[in-house]
Amino acid sequence: MPAALPFTSHRLLAPMEGVTDPVFRDLVLARNGPDALGGAFTEFARVVQVALPRRTLREHLGPRRFAQPVGLQLMGSAEELVAESARRAEEVGAPLVDLNFGCPAKGALRGCAGSALLRDPSAVERMVRAAVGAVERVPVSAKIRAGFDDDARLEDLARAVENGGAALLTVHCRTKAELYCEAVDWSRLARAAAAVKLPVCGNGGVRTHADFERLRRETGCAFAMAGRAALGDPWIFSGARASAADAARFLLDYADALRDEAGVSARGSAGRVKQLLQHWTAGELCDADRASWISEAAPERLFARLGELAGAERDPKLNPTIIGTASTCVAALESADGF
Ligand SMILES: Cc1cc2nc3c(=O)[nH]c(=O)nc-3n(C[C@H](O)[C@H](O)[C@H](O)COP(=O)(O)O)c2cc1C
Repeated sequence: MPAALPFTSHRLLAPMEGVTDPVFRDLVLARNGPDALGGAFTEFARVVQVALPRRTLREHLGPRRFAQPVGLQLMGSAEELVAESARRAEEVGAPLVDLNFGCPAKGALRGCAGSALLRDPSAVERMVRAAVGAVERVPVSAKIRAGFDDDARLEDLARAVENGGAALLTVHCRTKAELYCEAVDWSRLARAAAAVKLPVCGNGGVRTHADFERLRRETGCAFAMAGRAALGDPWIFSGARASAADAARFLLDYADALRDEAGVSARGSAGRVKQLLQHWTAGELCDADRASWISEAAPERLFARLGELAGAERDPKLNPTIIGTASTCVAALESADGF
């Protein structure tokens, strides 16, 4: 019997390498209460040659804890190393361990990790079983794509994850060959959900708050996960309509946290803010003149423009359910009800 899932609602934030580091992720968790956003995931932590050190795992989890769990995602090809990393992840406080079977990057494929494993459902099953066997209490989940070249083995892959003992299967409905194409086929999510008894989380093409519910209704998935849409509207989980001032404050808080917590330079943090502005829809901040925001070369001018919109009050609208820092989280995790 897989361990109970710790999520607080059925809307989840997708893992995104280079974006959902603790800085961005925690700003999103802080603005969406546990009823709105049920949980998030770290970017993938790559397991190569040795099991990941506890320090690296702690860095991925970050310094703060919220009412919502943040699953630690691992990606590797050697079962015993991934299993030992999963064991250590639990030891350092990860409330859930997620396994990546979807990354299409060349580096992952060369190392036979990520989406490379989609060609062999039995390898997926072995990896899941090894991780499940290595942890004591926390659930293990797996995130797959609908297939490698095509979706012909989708049901086999879903059953492999179930047979391996996972507590949750997340399906990104695009195949590896489709990368991040615009079109999505949610009937694949319905196929995966029908093939297994374990809860399935549908992912791919959630663009609005209403899409979370629509995905669940149309596919039978228990959970729905958004990736890129959350980069443009961090309030997508609650459905709150942010004002331009709220939106500008988010981006300034992001820049400040990158500087204070990750030691990123002003130029670097302006670059990260502009990366978000490419997707940004919240508060209609830049819908009319996106190009002028993205081409702003001087960091101080970008921050001054945001500062004008943010107004004097810069208190972030923090989620009152922040539990605290990593050291205070264990008791809270132990008391969290399964969802
Ligand atoms: C920049 C970026 C980085 C990503 N990194 C990861 C990752 O680390 N682990 C993972 O499982 N998926 C990763 N993904 C895939 C997303 O989790 C998600 O499956 C995909 O974006 C489809 O959802 P969407 O259509 O809502 O964006 C990444 C996607 C993007 C755009």
